[in-house]
Amino acid sequence: MSDMYCVFGNPVGHSRSPAIHSAFAAASGEDLCYEARLAPVDGFAGAVAEFVAAGGKGANVTVPFKEEACRLSDRLSGRAARAGAVNTLVFRADGIFGDNTDGAGLVQDIKINLGFALSGRRILLLGAGGAARGVIAPLLAESPASLHIANRSAEKARLLAQAFSDMAPVSGGSFNELAGKSFDLVINATSASLAGESLPLPAGLFAPGTLAYDMMYGKGQTPFLQLARAQGAAQGADGLGMLVEQAAEAFFVWRGVRPATAAVLAALRRQIST
Ligand code: ATR
Repeated sequence: MSDMYCVFGNPVGHSRSPAIHSAFAAASGEDLCYEARLAPVDGFAGAVAEFVAAGGKGANVTVPFKEEACRLSDRLSGRAARAGAVNTLVFRADGIFGDNTDGAGLVQDIKINLGFALSGRRILLLGAGGAARGVIAPLLAESPASLHIANRSAEKARLLAQAFSDMAPVSGGSFNELAGKSFDLVINATSASLAGESLPLPAGLFAPGTLAYDMMYGKGQTPFLQLARAQGAAQGADGLGMLVEQAAEAFFVWRGVRPATAAVLAALRRQIST
């Protein structure tokens, strides 16, 4: 029988993970099957236990269970402990190992797929929720010149910055306080576009060489990338590459094999744009 993996979420029907991991398995010759599993909002632990009892070897975790997956894990990777969230579970004989590959996926997409070096750059991270927290340590590990976090609730941004200040100088504040500043890389980790809202960003953040990166993706340009372009960003990227790269990193955690991502990303891009 093939080794069993899945993604837990609620909702989860929209998840691209089964297609991505099936493509990785086919291309790398790994014998595994991967499915989406809907867990009840108040029944995540039970859904995991059921999957483990059925022989499941590992799982991805998506909204809204990443923090709960962190608490459920018997052991955590350093990056998952820092993120306070888990997107990758490994079911071992001695318990559940929790990891977080989101930040690694973001860094891999920016550095390798987009060819944008992070070292020495001024980075602005928009948002101070779970998505933002998950990528801070991996970004700091790339030795940027600075990392500033801006959020609608400024206090949350300041607290988040403080939580990582042992690693590097990180600052935090409101959107208004961004006036007069500019950055080399601006990453949107807010969920504003899900609410159909655009961010109140002051003009001047984007220099011509700035990369605008939206962790969200969808058909066509995201609202954040439209705004960035209108404000002068020459280069923009959505989060589809991050999605594929975090999956590749999870695949590596489970199988010890690093799958090639370019063809899978290109196929997904074609699917999404039609
Ligand atoms: P996630 O796990 O996606 O990060 P979250 O933890 O709920 O979800 O965080 C959502 C983030 O998007 C927060 O930074 C939130 O700002 P607040 O902390 O001020 O709530 C941000 N966000 C959501 N809707 C927004 C909007 N309309 N404008 C600006 N920021 C928004």
